[in-house]
Amino acid sequence: MRRFVTSTVRRYSTRNFTWWDHVRPAPKDPIMGVTEAFNADSSPNKINLGVGAYRDDEGRPVVLQCVREAGARIVGSQFLESNSAAVSSKMVEECVKLVYGKDSDVVNEGRFAGVQALSGTGACRLFAEFQRRFHPESRIYLPDPTWSNHHNIWRDAQVPSKKYHYYNFDSKSLNFSMLIDDVKNAPDGSFFLFHPCAHNPTGMDPTEEQWKEISYQCKVKNHFPFFDMAYQGFASGDPEKDARAIRIFLEDEHLTGCAQSFAKNMGLYGHRVGCLSILCTDSKQGAAVRGQLQQIARAMYGSPPVHGVLLVSAILSNPDMKSLWIEEVKMMVNRIQKMRMTLQESLENLDSPLNWEHITNQVGLFFFSCLTPKEVEQLAREFHIFMTHDGRISMGGVTTGNVNYLANAIHDVTRSGKEETKILCNVGV
Ligand code: LMR
Repeated sequence: MRRFVTSTVRRYSTRNFTWWDHVRPAPKDPIMGVTEAFNADSSPNKINLGVGAYRDDEGRPVVLQCVREAGARIVGSQFLESNSAAVSSKMVEECVKLVYGKDSDVVNEGRFAGVQALSGTGACRLFAEFQRRFHPESRIYLPDPTWSNHHNIWRDAQVPSKKYHYYNFDSKSLNFSMLIDDVKNAPDGSFFLFHPCAHNPTGMDPTEEQWKEISYQCKVKNHFPFFDMAYQGFASGDPEKDARAIRIFLEDEHLTGCAQSFAKNMGLYGHRVGCLSILCTDSKQGAAVRGQLQQIARAMYGSPPVHGVLLVSAILSNPDMKSLWIEEVKMMVNRIQKMRMTLQESLENLDSPLNWEHITNQVGLFFFSCLTPKEVEQLAREFHIFMTHDGRISMGGVTTGNVNYLANAIHDVTRSGKEETKILCNVGV
């Protein structure tokens, strides 16, 4: 008997040995991989400019005062046993007011489906899944360039994606004419993803007039505009102003979708708190869409955690706490703006032969530099400065203490006037 068991086990374990042999290591994530490289570097001078997270002027992660106060208020609430339905519907209500306006008809008449989501990523993923289920033949148009994870999200949901023109790498500005052409030339009824403010990674947003034109052309073509609102407040310092692009689409009576995240503007990255909303023709349709979204979420992760949701609800539903939050957003944006100006001035004072005006022309958390992949690698190797391969610099990681070191390092890797950089930086402009 014993001999039988042993040989059976041996036979099975030989078979088990082959289960995962074909699994190859996944490529490193272009953003999270930067943090890994940063963590592995032992230099005291190292700087992490990779992930888009705000840091204070000492380089520390920030817990906003409004979040501390909200935390004190929710201590002892019954949320640990909650299945989150009641708490999340309160947060969803606050989220839609923040995006579409507290007095907007869609909110007052309940013409939307809103669900709590696992931050902006989770909201996009839910939407992508919903899009595939209910428009299986559709694809998503993504800006070129866009947040790298957009490609993964729609790919994993098996929705094909196509790029639309967004950025002109030569002039370092919005490629508006080609963007509009792409909107006009896409098949009627296409899905377009837009960043309504603080575009990631370019820091270049359309003007109000340009948004009006985009909205108009989307209307003519009957496209579905989907907004990924990951940085509300980070473009202008005012969350209300940063919602202007979406409000323009609302004025044009579009039905839109929106992914919201509080990872950056409330410093809640680790809580994964966000919202997905989809505008509908009436509240009955809203209820149907919401039910479908909830069903998709139920099979993927059950219900999302509620702690962060309680924090966000406490802040947005109390006028004093909301004002405090808005002040704190302004404070973060002012610090970033100051660092942009100092970085540009430092490079100019070093007599850089290149044009650095784009540092202060761009908005939001990111400076889309014109550094080449080779220069990005050199910065990591020789100066312990880490950023994504496309030369995106998270200004959240730039501080009074490291901005001159950064400027000197950038100057060092670019001053030999390498041809590629010269072309990208419009030398002499
Ligand atoms: C980023 O672009 O760095 C952020 O959106 C963080 C993330 O999750 O990628």
